[in-house]
Amino acid sequence: MGSPVVMGLMKLIVFGVLGLLVFLDVPSFCNGGSTSSFIRKDEKAVDLPLDSDVFRVPPGYNAPQQVHITQGDHVGKGVIISWVTMDEPGSNMVLYWRSKSKQKFQKKGTVTSYKFYNYTSGYIHHCTIKHLEYDTLYFYEVGIGHTPRQFWFRTPPSIGPDVPYTFGLIGDLGQSFDSNWTLSHYESNPNGQTVLFVGDLSYADTYPFHDNVRWDTWGRFVERSAAYQPWIWTAGNHEIDFDPEIGETVPFKPYTHRYHVPYKASESTSPFWYSIKRASAYIIVLASYSAYGKYTPQYFWLESELPKVNRSETPWLIVLMHSPWYNSYNYHYMEGETMRVMYEAWFVKYKVDVVFAGHVHAYERSERVSNIAYNIVNAKCSPVPDESAPVYITIGDGGNLEGLATNMTEPQPHYSAYREASFGHAIFYIKNRTHAYYSWHRNQDGDAVVADSMWFYNRYWNPLNESTKSYS
Ligand SMILES: *[C@@H]1O[C@H](CO)[C@@H](O)[C@H](O)[C@H]1NC(C)=O
Ligand SMILES: *[C@@H]1O[C@H](CO)[C@@H](O)[C@H](O)[C@H]1NC(C)=O
Ligand SMILES: *[C@@H]1O[C@H](CO)[C@@H](O)[C@H](O)[C@H]1NC(C)=O
Ligand SMILES: *[C@@H]1O[C@H](CO)[C@@H](O)[C@H](O)[C@H]1NC(C)=O
Ligand SMILES: *[C@@H]1O[C@H](CO)[C@@H](O)[C@H](O)[C@H]1NC(C)=O
Ligand SMILES: *[C@@H]1O[C@H](CO)[C@@H](O)[C@H](O)[C@H]1NC(C)=O
Ligand SMILES: [Fe+2]
Repeated sequence: MGSPVVMGLMKLIVFGVLGLLVFLDVPSFCNGGSTSSFIRKDEKAVDLPLDSDVFRVPPGYNAPQQVHITQGDHVGKGVIISWVTMDEPGSNMVLYWRSKSKQKFQKKGTVTSYKFYNYTSGYIHHCTIKHLEYDTLYFYEVGIGHTPRQFWFRTPPSIGPDVPYTFGLIGDLGQSFDSNWTLSHYESNPNGQTVLFVGDLSYADTYPFHDNVRWDTWGRFVERSAAYQPWIWTAGNHEIDFDPEIGETVPFKPYTHRYHVPYKASESTSPFWYSIKRASAYIIVLASYSAYGKYTPQYFWLESELPKVNRSETPWLIVLMHSPWYNSYNYHYMEGETMRVMYEAWFVKYKVDVVFAGHVHAYERSERVSNIAYNIVNAKCSPVPDESAPVYITIGDGGNLEGLATNMTEPQPHYSAYREASFGHAIFYIKNRTHAYYSWHRNQDGDAVVADSMWFYNRYWNPLNESTKSYS
């Protein structure tokens, strides 16, 4: 897209008098949303040193470490429990029991390991437990036979349209001092029940030879949250770990060995795109770094997936991806464009409520806009207000060592409602089928401060205009 003036001139030439009308109709680019006046101290984010407290190896022979859980089936009655042992494979067994019950169950998992350049991983265990009871506190134990460690989680309530549920949103976390603030702030908010993680986990690939020791430190860092509540994974570009110079040509090798997702339960053929239902939400995870063009497996999957969403059962339709479609920073600008062109019309047709992405190391929330009218010759290539369109939120501000994206396109485009270059996290509180409350919390001087918030009106049950912005 050129400037409005250049576009207007082009349209004049193409359409003559008709073009003049179109030109007058172009939304004003001076009518953007707000750019926060909060200016964060522009310090480079620094990775935590290897001997940091948050990377401490749990004591004891072959003690399980890097414990994390995610949803293990399509409906929330399953969990995948993963952990790493370093000295020897040890037991694959998980013991688990309901909080008020003496009866213990056990389930045997699998173990794997991988090599990356001159790094050899520990023994990576995954165990999928199914048919749990809804809304129940479970304890579990891993490291059986050597150094057992105990954790707990609560299963989500049974799926239903008015079930309140609260999701945390974190992206591009990394393992810097800022990452530790973001995670601490998320933990200090008692409401978050499940993390929707929008990609870029460890940033191990920023080290020489992608030093995979940094995948291990990251696993130990997030254990304090990820062992107790599911983190729903999305693959970002830092998960690709492709490096022919050092002979590593299998993309996503560390990520796919370490982080399992229940993709088969949604009839996906790949762990990079899948869906889950949880409480009143239907969550679709897409892959910015897998093929998404027409005739690709992801395209076919999404095409048959969207009609399956039953809004009477799960009113809230949420999409996660790594690379944002609407982004007005100068970083990664338009990287999500080709995927937007493929799928945006579907998101409008199926009334997706909200799309969360990461990648850009800053925060941004869009108006409900779409840009699906363009057909090469009609010159309709500007986003327009669209009450059936999702709100696009960029939340790639977890705090990784690459630092903040501070350079924004000026003036603020009309599709951008709020933007701010600060680290932080967000919370999406579903109240019932019609209302959800959303808040973004910036990391400021050690505290989490609500810097942006809005009431979401469900696009299926309550498709009212939530915007306070006038397009006139
Ligand atoms: C891997 O190779 C790098 C560079 O040659 C070296 O610095 C590092 O110590 C090696 N690591 C292991 C585990 O051998
Ligand atoms: C990370 O945050 C935790 C919890 O706030 C704190 O206990 C720990 O000391 C922090 N670690 C570092 C290295 O900042
Ligand atoms: C959608 O979900 C509702 C509520 O669970 C159910 O009654 C209805 O049969 C479902 N519709 C379809 C087409 O499955
Ligand atoms: C911001 O990004 C624009 C476009 O990439 C570039 O021309 C400009 O020099 C950048 N400004 C700063 C201060 O980095
Ligand atoms: C849904 O939640 C909103 C916000 O809490 C509330 O105002 C509204 O009354 C609720 N609707 C129903 C039907 O309970
Ligand atoms: C939404 O409501 C705002 C404030 O009431 C109004 O200015 C704006 O024009 C409305 N937008 C649409 C697309 O109707
Ligand atoms: Fe990224």
